[in-house]
Amino acid sequence: MVAYPSIYINKEVSQHQAETKKVTTLRLAAMKAQGEPISMLTAYDYTMARLLDAAGIDILLVGDSAANVMAGHTTTLPITLDQMIYHGACVVRGVQRAFVVVDMPFGSYQISPETALASAIRIMKETGADAVKLEGGTHLFSTISQFTAAGIPVVGHLGLTPQSVHQLGGYGLQGKEGVAADKLFEEALGLERAGCCAVVLEKVPASVAARVAQALQIPVIGIGAGSGVDGQVLVSQDMLGMEDRFTPKFLRRFASLGEEIKQAAEAYITAVKERSFPSDAESY
Ligand code: KIV
Repeated sequence: MVAYPSIYINKEVSQHQAETKKVTTLRLAAMKAQGEPISMLTAYDYTMARLLDAAGIDILLVGDSAANVMAGHTTTLPITLDQMIYHGACVVRGVQRAFVVVDMPFGSYQISPETALASAIRIMKETGADAVKLEGGTHLFSTISQFTAAGIPVVGHLGLTPQSVHQLGGYGLQGKEGVAADKLFEEALGLERAGCCAVVLEKVPASVAARVAQALQIPVIGIGAGSGVDGQVLVSQDMLGMEDRFTPKFLRRFASLGEEIKQAAEAYITAVKERSFPSDAESY
């Protein structure tokens, strides 16, 4: 048997621990400090959460994009708090390692800081998630401070905030001009001061996002925000190629599962129609 000096064994153990131990706010902060990119994907159900967690994803976001991806709505506005809690609890049951963030849906945090806190507490109690996420800047600073005072980790979301699509007039690039970029930068600093443990930046110029990531101590996760941030997030069904109608510049497809699922369903239908399924070996 080879006798390894303890320095190597310790290194091996700590690396293994980093790979298998539950991701926490502290781990995310350490990843930022060490310059280790953070991977984040959406999940809305148990089966997908299990697969993505087993692959080693750092953060799973139970996004209110479930309104689009799971329910077929054209905006994220219709999804309810009860529906987000249902999706959140399903995802948490499938996860061993990833940090799970649940989006607060439109209407669950805009009325007052008190109703916002009540919504966040319901999410934390009824899903078992690790954090909540909400969209917006300055007007939410006091709400976020109340969450963190109550022990609830909060992820902010700036840039393109889909819950405000009607106010923004569409899903275009945000923070483009000097004034808008400066406002976004100040709001990101404010989110950190208010107590956010991370911030998502959606669809903003890469230079603006990189400036924010450099200034903030907390991780900045981008979607359509270039490579100068601390991590990346995509909607899983988009990056797996299950949806071919959504083709923004920032989206890279890492698989063509939509085509594979269609081919598998066609093969099944043929096998049923020609009575080759089930075979004797597949029967009792
Ligand atoms: O709901 C969602 O999927 C999101 C990501 C796009 C960041 O908020």
